[in-house]
Amino acid sequence: MGDNVIPLADLRHAALLPTIPRDAPAPSGLLADRHGRPLRDLRISVTDRCNFRCTYCMPKEVFDRDYRFLPQPELLSFEEITRLARVFVAHGVRKLRLTGGEPLLRKNIEVLVQMLAGLRDAQGEPLDLTLTTNASLLARKAEALARAGLRRVTVSLDALDDAVFRRMNDVDFPVADVLAGIDAAVAAGLGPVKINMVVQRGTNDHEIVPMARHFRERHGGRVVLRFIEFMDVGTTNGWRMDEVLPSAEVVRRLDEAFGLQALEPSQPGETAARWAYRDGLGEVGVISSVTQPFCGDCNRARLSTEGRLFLCLFATQGHDLRALLRGGHDDQQLAAAIGHIWSGRDDRYSELRHAQSPEAAGTGRRIEMHYIGG
Ligand code: GTP
Ligand code: 5AD
Ligand code: SF4
Ligand code: SF4
Repeated sequence: MGDNVIPLADLRHAALLPTIPRDAPAPSGLLADRHGRPLRDLRISVTDRCNFRCTYCMPKEVFDRDYRFLPQPELLSFEEITRLARVFVAHGVRKLRLTGGEPLLRKNIEVLVQMLAGLRDAQGEPLDLTLTTNASLLARKAEALARAGLRRVTVSLDALDDAVFRRMNDVDFPVADVLAGIDAAVAAGLGPVKINMVVQRGTNDHEIVPMARHFRERHGGRVVLRFIEFMDVGTTNGWRMDEVLPSAEVVRRLDEAFGLQALEPSQPGETAARWAYRDGLGEVGVISSVTQPFCGDCNRARLSTEGRLFLCLFATQGHDLRALLRGGHDDQQLAAAIGHIWSGRDDRYSELRHAQSPEAAGTGRRIEMHYIGG
């Protein structure tokens, strides 16, 4: 092992063993946490591996050849994921998002998509089933994913300029291949396709207007570009406040270039504030976790690759649902444990950080983005 390797144990976390309350009521879809927030969105990480080394997410110096990713037996199987997802849906989840690392690296991912596409909510409706990808494999897989029942995709893309993009993904991956993946997703009907651009002042903020111009002119309303404030997730990305470009500045630049008009949120608890182009050529979003936190109605839970449930993107501990799955517990017991965990949820990290109360926000080692999928 090289000198700069952080041992695996340091990047992962003590797992909490869930309690299973006896006589818990059957899931009603009306679960609420300690701030009255329902559970609507489950983000499922299917691999901790990625073929990119984005400097703000998996810096090469840490995630090098010596870094030990999770071994196969540690991963939840497709059956285990689907079983848990069914229980979450009974508790009110309506959106499932597959993440990674890079989810398209998980072998036979379209089989999992097909299994999850078979789930129905309490009204008998299919779920909002989506996936966040770097699109490196999307041109090849978009058709099969759509056929398996995927509804839409979100693509991470930080620059249009090839040199800037190659520098940011840090594996010399060409932007043309990502653009081909986006075209394939649009053609396969996986829309509206969303594009996530993480903005880092001094690195890619000069790409904001060119990115907006490209997607409005090429795809209009079929692609929605979102600008994300660089967040202090994990502990390895060297986050600094002076590299955060506040969303208000993004909106100012776009308004000057194209003319923008505020839109109402399309759903409660949404991450992005929406803006329409005044000329009708579609919309953009800004995700302002640093300058305008949105914990107030955060309804998202995160399931890690090896089956730990995290209640916040900035959590320091996860609840070990795999221990229950592999310990022979039935669905009723799983539902009781998940209900108990969510009812005790108090997390609102971004709000506390914004209020500059770092002690209250917690000081433990936070989970890494590549492990929990954003
Ligand atoms: P849509 O349903 O398509 O709007 O997706 P989404 O915005 O919920 O998910 P996506 O994976 O596209 O996330 C967009 C960005 O917001 C990423 O940088 C995420 O890390 C970030 N994000 C998503 N959920 C949360 C959250 O609960 N808290 C914070 N702070 N950031 C989040
Ligand atoms: N800040 C903001 N967004 C991030 N992402 C990864 N790391 C960060 C960070 N530090 C984004 C990815 C992806 C999404 C799931 O999270 O670009 O689009
Ligand atoms: Fe980049 Fe996403 Fe891979 Fe992280 S998981 S290195 S953000 S492509
Ligand atoms: Fe939700 Fe935590 Fe993000 Fe706040 S910081 S919006 S509680 S995931």
